[in-house]
Amino acid sequence: MKKKNYLIILSCFLAILSIFIMACNGNKNNDKNRLITAEEWKTQYPYQYETYMKDLELDEIVSIPEQYPFLDVIYAGSSYGKYFIEPRGHNLSLTDVGETGRPHPKANCLTCKSSDFTYMVNTEGVEVYSREFNTVYEQLNELIGCYTCHENTGSEVVITHSYLKNALGENIKDYNVNDLSCGQCHCEYYFLKSTDEAKLAYTGLDNMNPEYILNFYIENNVAETTHGLTGTKIPKATHPEFETYLGEGSKHASFLDCADCHMGECTAADGTTFSDHFFTTPLDKPEVLETCKGCHPYDMAEYVHNIQKAVEDRTIEVGQELANMILALAAFKDSGKYSDEQLQPIKDLHREAQWYWDFVFGENSNGAHNSALSYDCLNKAETAINKAMDLMKAL
Ligand code: HEC
Ligand code: HEC
Ligand code: HEC
Ligand code: HEC
Repeated sequence: MKKKNYLIILSCFLAILSIFIMACNGNKNNDKNRLITAEEWKTQYPYQYETYMKDLELDEIVSIPEQYPFLDVIYAGSSYGKYFIEPRGHNLSLTDVGETGRPHPKANCLTCKSSDFTYMVNTEGVEVYSREFNTVYEQLNELIGCYTCHENTGSEVVITHSYLKNALGENIKDYNVNDLSCGQCHCEYYFLKSTDEAKLAYTGLDNMNPEYILNFYIENNVAETTHGLTGTKIPKATHPEFETYLGEGSKHASFLDCADCHMGECTAADGTTFSDHFFTTPLDKPEVLETCKGCHPYDMAEYVHNIQKAVEDRTIEVGQELANMILALAAFKDSGKYSDEQLQPIKDLHREAQWYWDFVFGENSNGAHNSALSYDCLNKAETAINKAMDLMKAL
């Protein structure tokens, strides 16, 4: 055999061998047939993994109703008045959803709790949402794992929750991917009655606001609960962090994303830089607070707490007014003296007031994300409450 031919055969062999090795590696990291767990990324991304696991420390249980005694009235007829805790760490969410006293007949309650669930929806279809809760719950092992935000890439930010992609369609390009990543769950969603699947009301930044969402819910009869005291049908706001942070009045949405405040960049002892995967308050992250100083050259914790205190005080004030209005409406209804036509406009105002109040109460930053929008919603709730009281006085 000529030396030249020998070399060609050898290089072909080496090329095939390297393709084979690449294919094996690619297969390992991009396996489409199963979910790659957080545990499996541990060696390749030790710092992301280690910080991600810190979230199990966020295990304090703070029950919300104790701080807001009037919730029994506002949420009468729904289990929210009784079982409602402040959010805890991501990796406790599977435990929390299993232990809450709120009933959950369908598997769709697991939408935001486990990567395994997301993987099931992505591979088996939306019919997974309507399966029986316990059957699916028992099949879940992975918590809110790397897959949820990175699919099987382990590092690239990928949106895996299809309802967000479907709702935004082409408009998804107007968003920052790190905002979308958290917005997959920290958003205002509803379950479609016919299929139990998760859905969003809006289609882009233009209509991602509480007014549009309320009208959409009313027109499409979705997300409703029937109020136990007044019989009003009311859409329940979930946890609209995404909509609030990106909403009108936001001071930072144009230049900071969720990861800038809730993740932050760290440097390990060996000099590696990485994003802190401990998803918690920016106030506990010195590396994040350092980046705020240029614009906020003062004690950030105190500044944030003052804003939150003022928003919470106003939330309690309007919440109490709402509860009083509900009790008055319930008494009118129970008296049997008024017709449905007379009561309906008051019920409509009850629905409007409760929606705007709930949009603030359900949001988890207590005003820190966008206090202007929070005040605007609370003012709208109060206006509707006052109108309802006036209508009752005039009856
Ligand atoms: C798969 C759904 C999901 C995604 C995606 C998600 N979260 Fe969460 N997050 C949750 C749930 C559920 C909880 C509440 C857990 C509990 O209380 O059991 C939570 C709680 C939190 C908390 C409160 C933790 C505490 O007690 O301090 C913060 C902060 C948070 N998430 C930030 C983020 C950020 C930032 C992102 C994006 C990088 C994100 N989350 C993406 C579902 C998600
Ligand atoms: C709730 C969403 C979320 C989860 C869960 C998550 N990540 Fe990330 N990850 C992000 C976001 C957002 C970024 C981009 C951060 C930025 O641009 O500042 C990122 C960045 C990264 C990067 C790029 C390098 C860096 O540090 O910025 C790696 C690698 C990474 N993640 C690995 C992991 C691994 C491994 C896991 C599981 C142990 C994981 N991530 C879990 C949201 C997540
Ligand atoms: C400019 C900084 C900033 C940005 C950007 C930001 N947040 Fe926050 N976020 C905060 C602050 C400050 C708090 C209040 C923390 C506290 O009370 O200790 C907070 C609170 C939260 C909480 C409640 C935490 C808890 O312990 O209950 C969640 C959940 C959350 N943010 C999610 C998000 C999501 C999702 C996004 C993006 C859509 C986002 N944040 C963008 C600053 C930010
Ligand atoms: C480029 C300037 C700039 C940077 C950087 C910046 N902020 Fe701000 N922030 C502002 C301005 C302007 C306001 C509104 C005026 C004010 O209250 O000072 C504001 C307001 C806030 C508010 C109150 C929001 C509201 O709606 O009431 C919080 C909370 C906040 N900033 C947190 C942070 C955190 C945390 C960081 C660092 C991750 C940060 N900011 C970085 C400019 C900035």
